[in-house]
Amino acid sequence: HFAVAAAPLLKGRRILVTSGPTHEPIDPVRYIANRSSGKQGHAIAAAARAAGAEVVLVSGPVEVADPRGVRVVRVESARAMMAAVEENLPVDAAVFAAAVADWRVADAAEQKIKKDAGGAPALHLVENPDILATVSRHHTLRPRLVVGFAAETETVVAHAQAKRARKGCDWIVANDVSPATGIMGGDSNTVHLVTAAGVEDWPSATKGEVARHLVARIAAELSGGAA
Ligand code: CTP
Ligand code: CA
Repeated sequence: HFAVAAAPLLKGRRILVTSGPTHEPIDPVRYIANRSSGKQGHAIAAAARAAGAEVVLVSGPVEVADPRGVRVVRVESARAMMAAVEENLPVDAAVFAAAVADWRVADAAEQKIKKDAGGAPALHLVENPDILATVSRHHTLRPRLVVGFAAETETVVAHAQAKRARKGCDWIVANDVSPATGIMGGDSNTVHLVTAAGVEDWPSATKGEVARHLVARIAAELSGGAA
């Protein structure tokens, strides 16, 4: 029998994905980071490429391999991620899977901070730009579909609905990172898709399966709505 290959659903579309953590410097040898592995964002970029899209992956520092056929722009800080995202607009859809650091050190030291009689240094933190909210509210270059993620440990859906409204994005993939389900860095994910139409509870699945399902939903949306 013939194996029937699925038609590329995103042929001719440009998709941007952010992935991984950001690193915010304290001094030249130290940084603030988080536990994001980049597995989910990279899987989405790979799935979008497999569906025929031209994909730009803006990634913070991760161990996972670059997906094949995807243009990867590597960054460290949230501000560098913001700049790389803006440089790669316009796109048809953007998926913000990165765990962007909320704060950075206001005045990162230019030399390694030394222990001295002054005691432990205090870090003065300032808020980073919100990449998802900025792109969602872009006057001229807003993608047709803007998808955010929300990693939550409690009241997952309610937090995600509030986040969707606050950020101005179209969809939020609410990611349950409570220890009982999707421990950050693991290979599976339990998500809820929050849209204007309501909430879908997706079954617990591998990050690859979640990625393929999300990409199929994005393709359906870009080609006019109904799947
Ligand atoms: N995000 C972003 N830029 C930031 C912070 C977050 O683009 N500076 C994006 C993330 O990539 C994700 C979404 O916003 O798609 C939600 O991130 P999250 O950390 O859950 O939301 P916050 O608004 O930072 O709220 P909090 O961390 O307080 O829950
Ligand atoms: Ca945050």
